Amino acid sequence: MPIVAPSILAANIMNLDSEVAMINQSTAEWIHIDVMDGRFVPNISFGMPIVKGIRQKTAKVLDVHLMIVEPEKYVEDFAKAGADVITIHAEACTHLHRNLQQIRQFGKKAGIALNPHTSISVLENVIDLIDVVCLMSVNPGFGGQAFIQHTYGKLTHLSALLKASSSPALIEIDGGVTLDNAPLLTAAGAHVLVAGNTVFTAPHPIQCISKLQGN
Ligand code: DX5
Ligand code: ZN
Repeated sequence: MPIVAPSILAANIMNLDSEVAMINQSTAEWIHIDVMDGRFVPNISFGMPIVKGIRQKTAKVLDVHLMIVEPEKYVEDFAKAGADVITIHAEACTHLHRNLQQIRQFGKKAGIALNPHTSISVLENVIDLIDVVCLMSVNPGFGGQAFIQHTYGKLTHLSALLKASSSPALIEIDGGVTLDNAPLLTAAGAHVLVAGNTVFTAPHPIQCISKLQGN
């Protein structure tokens, strides 16, 4: 059964308290928080105070997805704000190896996100430093975009690469996850499904989370 990570980018920000309460009551194990800087991606979203605020309201795993340039400058801040997983983009890092080490030095799980155009070969020399690989199945920056189909092939290759390397890293799929493609992604080796619009526009979000898990 996959882990579902509702993405609060699609939540009603004015009702964040009740949105987090809904997730707390659900079988979702993670909460996905998209941090955007208007530079790495053409949109601006949340920062440390939102992570800190959510931390005070939940015991779920906080999965912080940094879509920002020079993420190494902010890893400590997000660690202190209460992140459990800190994911940085390969494309945003000049010193990816060092930056992944830095996340673990703060006692956090290190995630690496790959844009749709980025080959999984970038993982080869940092594989021992990765706890989560986030395959972007849309171009990052916005919720509600259509799933990019070539992600399936990438997912299959990534699954094989991790197995061949005996890596316990989790594979996360982010963007355009729906009730239709979730079973296919799980079957192809995804461990974590991020879902924004699918969950928060559902008539019954708690039921939707359970369905995404294959129930
Ligand atoms: C996109 C973000 C995603 C987004 C997913 O840049 O990284 O996490 O919230 O939203 P949906 O599930 O609506 O595509
Ligand atoms: Zn995300």
